[in-house]
Amino acid sequence: MTLRSATLQPGPAGYSASQIVLHWIIAALVVFQLAFGGMMGPAYRAFRRGTEPAAADLFAANVHVYVGIAVLVLAVWRFALRLTRGVPALPAGEGPVTAWLARIAHFLLYLFIFGMPVTGMLAWFGMVEQAGEFHETMKPVIILVVALHAAGALWQHFGARTDVLRRMLRPVRP
Ligand code: HEM
Ligand code: HEM
Repeated sequence: MTLRSATLQPGPAGYSASQIVLHWIIAALVVFQLAFGGMMGPAYRAFRRGTEPAAADLFAANVHVYVGIAVLVLAVWRFALRLTRGVPALPAGEGPVTAWLARIAHFLLYLFIFGMPVTGMLAWFGMVEQAGEFHETMKPVIILVVALHAAGALWQHFGARTDVLRRMLRPVRP
């Protein structure tokens, strides 16, 4: 198994089927977590007060916990694929500013799919208050980065008319 980034080999022509499926499953789970993260509040506050949460609140909290841990497991798998198989190069003719914006957005998105489950687990299992506060504060930041990332992808497709969105839909064999 070789590490692409370490060996200076050219990247693959496109994403593999597993990279594509992982991208869209993680995206759907992250959107779910952002939309329904608030359902974690009542059970978390009950535990912090030292009282028993209502059964429905505990169920809702467990859904958030397990979906979040699933994101972490899938993110590890996906990052391993990125290291071993690589990712396609940015489209030829991409300007330096937009190329760097795309790279920064991808870096931040990886940071979120690792960082959110970790801070969440510290808050929930370790009752580390600052981790919970940081976890909450990240919500609008993630929404902003995901919105810019999605807008960039749509602009590539409809504005610049590159194959960037298509290659996240159609797999290429290694
Ligand atoms: C929470 C949601 C999302 C996350 C966490 C996410 C994460 C990522 C990451 C980390 C990459 C870099 C490629 C890699 O290393 O595997 C990527 C690529 C990509 N994403 Fe997303 N993404 C999300 C939502 C979306 C949405 C909504 C769209 C479309 C509207 C989209 C379209 C794309 C495309 C087209 C690429 C390929 C870019 C390229 O090949 O240069 N993503 N995504
Ligand atoms: C991708 C993964 C995750 C995302 C995107 C996410 C997102 C969110 C959001 C949006 C909130 C509500 C913030 C608010 O509106 O007040 C929240 C709260 C919370 N989440 Fe997560 N979460 C993730 C994973 C996890 C995991 C794995 C755990 C625990 C094992 C967890 C534990 C918590 C806790 C304890 C709260 C309440 C924090 C507080 O009220 O201070 N999260 N999360």
